[in-house]
Amino acid sequence: MSPEWWTRDDLRRGTDGRLIFAGHDVAALAAEHDRPLFLYNGARIRANAARLRAALAVSGCAHRLYYAMKCNRFPPLLRMLAAEGGIGIDICSPDEMDLAIACGFAPGDISFTGTAVAPRDLDRLLARPDLHINCDSLAQIRMIGERTPGRTIGIRVNPGLGTGYGDSARLTYAGERTTKFGIYREQWADALGLAARYGLTVSTIHFHVGCGYLSQQLDAWDAAVGEAASFLADLPQATTVNIGGGLGLPHRAGEPPLDLARWSAIIARHFGGRGLTVAVEPGDYLVKDAGLLLLSVVWVERKRDTLFVAVDGGFNLHPEPAHYDLPCEPVACTVREPDPSRWHAVTVAGNINEALDLWAEDHPMPPLREGDRIALINAGGYGSAMSSNHCMRGDFVELLI
Ligand SMILES: Cc1ncc(COP(=O)(O)O)c(C=O)c1O
Repeated sequence: MSPEWWTRDDLRRGTDGRLIFAGHDVAALAAEHDRPLFLYNGARIRANAARLRAALAVSGCAHRLYYAMKCNRFPPLLRMLAAEGGIGIDICSPDEMDLAIACGFAPGDISFTGTAVAPRDLDRLLARPDLHINCDSLAQIRMIGERTPGRTIGIRVNPGLGTGYGDSARLTYAGERTTKFGIYREQWADALGLAARYGLTVSTIHFHVGCGYLSQQLDAWDAAVGEAASFLADLPQATTVNIGGGLGLPHRAGEPPLDLARWSAIIARHFGGRGLTVAVEPGDYLVKDAGLLLLSVVWVERKRDTLFVAVDGGFNLHPEPAHYDLPCEPVACTVREPDPSRWHAVTVAGNINEALDLWAEDHPMPPLREGDRIALINAGGYGSAMSSNHCMRGDFVELLI
């Protein structure tokens, strides 16, 4: 298998070995910015959205796509999605609400699903009558009822089953381990009782059972969807089922992309013919593979048995690989040695004083030298959005092309 398994139309090698992304010479673009650079391809984001909407259409269900802003809140990207039309936005905090509105989303196109929502948060959210709010705790239902009796709400349920990338427990939000998310089956009667007490109409069942699932996890996802769907039996007035996000993409060689035909068939089987609108709120699926993080090689040095490639950006710029073991594979922006059998296994290390600050270990790369650029692929989601200023090395530039 080629070490460059990630090659596709908009991300490929030019004939001279230079990495081309969205029609641009990546190293040349990076050279214009003397600091870490996140590069996003707007056309790829739109193509990902179109592919997902086509799969939803095949399910035969009425549907609605909300982009999960927590994944990447770069304003030009949000403005692009708002201008695209037909795409709503999923938010999880009042500040995200303000940013969504500032970037062109109407309150009626915004769906809120948050956790540990404080009274001060609710006061800001409830001031928008058209905003849809999914409640993930009994307390949240009560607090909304006290403040705005008669409002229409959704309830996030926790089906007690879930899945995530590579069956990772850390990426599973509903499963064996009790999580903070959503209303469990044994709380359901209380949730409905609270809604009734305050005259709240429950229009929506919401669930989000994990992140990064691929085709291998679809059986587990199917079971979780079935369990979540069973909550609908008590809600004849429900109009919408929000199936969350969590759709994954390949991170390692040999991983096939998510089988959207199977995914869509699961939706059709559980929700088809019931007059429900199926809402989906992906983050990663839309933006993750549409982004690169470009870093510069600072030095290349052998230490004992390891050849290190040190770069000018660390895990604080994209914490997911360190936190969730979701790799962002490093790729050389210029390949001078086209024969992969002559590449070296290297460890790519960042500039943060933490032992875990490694982008990749034992990773085959062509010979590199100081000043070369490397691109971390799959950096479009949960990178800049989750970045921190740890070690005061949080400086970066973002560019949507
Ligand atoms: C409630 C909810 N919806 C949607 C998402 C987006 O998930 P993803 O980016 O995996 O699609 C998340 C992510 O944590 C979430 O918690």
